[in-house]
Amino acid sequence: MKKNFLKYAEILKKNGIKKSLSEIQRFVSDYFDIPLPKVIAFDFDFSEKMEKKLQEFCLKRGEGIPFSYLTGFAYFYGRKFFVDESVLVPRPETEHIVEFVLKKLPWDFKGRILDCCTGSGNIAITFAKELKNAEVFASDISKNAVKVAKRNSLYHNADVSFILCDKLDCFKPRSFDLIVANPPYIGFLEKDFLEKEVLNEPHIALFGGEKGYEFLEDFLRQAILCVKEKGLIIFEMGYNQIDDVRFFANNVLENVKIRFLKDLNGYFRVGVIENA
Ligand SMILES: C[S@@+](CC[C@H](N)C(=O)[O-])C[C@H]1O[C@@H](n2cnc3c(N)ncnc32)[C@H](O)[C@@H]1O
Repeated sequence: MKKNFLKYAEILKKNGIKKSLSEIQRFVSDYFDIPLPKVIAFDFDFSEKMEKKLQEFCLKRGEGIPFSYLTGFAYFYGRKFFVDESVLVPRPETEHIVEFVLKKLPWDFKGRILDCCTGSGNIAITFAKELKNAEVFASDISKNAVKVAKRNSLYHNADVSFILCDKLDCFKPRSFDLIVANPPYIGFLEKDFLEKEVLNEPHIALFGGEKGYEFLEDFLRQAILCVKEKGLIIFEMGYNQIDDVRFFANNVLENVKIRFLKDLNGYFRVGVIENA
């Protein structure tokens, strides 16, 4: 059995996948629901069905299909979220938005929160679970993404209202105390530099315009109207977009205070706007 694992790890490695053995082990553990230590110790029965699934996994990974699409889920802020090819796989760096908000708001916050561009619903559902008294809304333009997000909210028994909507078109002025978004923010011009794996995620979830921040500008123009006075807008952005976003906020949006938060690599990846 160990030999089989090594054989498949070798195949993955040849296809450019780093940490290939640990991917094989994680896949077997996640897909067949066997505790990882048991998989690592080869303490389970390796069936023909498993062998077939592993072959299929190696083939698809070689084509650049994201790991989480093949297991069907990903973790975000310690919770399991179902994913498929209609949603972006939640990224650990997006947890930064959640951490910031949970530190900033009181535990019994009763306001209205919108997660625009919700995808799998990871941010909205996390807020609904962590801030029990808040009223949480989530929107996306993709019907299939909203389907996945609804499945996740049922799984977590999370009280979230989902809305199919283009950006913030369907919300009235001054509707929310907090608007968060992890919008599409990659530039079409960067497309050729992206990994095959990223390009297998929905392009509507990735690309925000030619330079990338065009979507973000439209979103901010609308968000500033939809957020209440003294409300907050928090958004993720590209590592190289701080100058453009700051210029836009200071010169186009009126009466706002903007600041940026660094990620673990030292890049400014989150913007925080206060409607002053
Ligand atoms: C970067 S993904 C973020 C998904 C999720 N919030 C996360 O953090 O993993 C961006 C999401 O924006 C959605 N989207 C793209 N264009 C949109 C639009 N015009 N209005 C609303 N949502 C849009 C996509 O369908 C996708 O789910």
